[in-house]
Amino acid sequence: MSGDYLLPRIATSEDPLRLAVLISGGGSGLKALLRHQSNGRRNHVTSLVISDVESAGGLKHASDSSVEHLSIPLPGGMKGIERRLEHERRIMEALASHDIEMVVLSGYMRILTPSFVSNWKGRLVNIHPSLLPKFPGAHAQRDAIDSGAKETGCTVHFVDEGVDTGAIIQQKEVPILPGDTVETLTERIKREEHELYPKVLDDISSGRVSV
Ligand code: GRF
Repeated sequence: MSGDYLLPRIATSEDPLRLAVLISGGGSGLKALLRHQSNGRRNHVTSLVISDVESAGGLKHASDSSVEHLSIPLPGGMKGIERRLEHERRIMEALASHDIEMVVLSGYMRILTPSFVSNWKGRLVNIHPSLLPKFPGAHAQRDAIDSGAKETGCTVHFVDEGVDTGAIIQQKEVPILPGDTVETLTERIKREEHELYPKVLDDISSGRVSV
């Protein structure tokens, strides 16, 4: 495996790893993580939630749990890479001011630039609704159904400079049933994601993951 992943410190429940969760939508994964963190002594805590979408429903889960949350939309008056870099500069400023140690992408729909990734590599994770390397990209469930596969799943992986190409940490299989639609399959995958992601974060923050 590539040697340029720098893992976070091994944390304790007295001094938990400070996570920022980045979302763009409904945030069911965020909700599951917050429930997991409040249900026991964990070596990680959600210290900040950031959404790039001001109306993202997931921000309510943060406020319901009294977790600090911000919406940081793409800045106006700029275009292209300049706009993406300024957006990420604002995000990195928020991460620094909240002493964030690890970034958890949970339904965050933007692709991060190599400049952002290189700053966080090994401390930046994502969950994807397929068994990577199968079905990368934004339409994983539709692509899995269209392929005729009988099984798909979800993958937690470190983020690298590519799209859905980083080192795989853990996966869980999910069956594709006859008559499945994108919606029914998405819901079945999410049920597994909500178990898998918090457990992988337990493993990372306790030093049980290597790359
Ligand atoms: C999840 O299915 C995840 O795999 C994908 O985005 C979805 C997020 O859903 N990256 P939610 O916003 O947490 O409900």
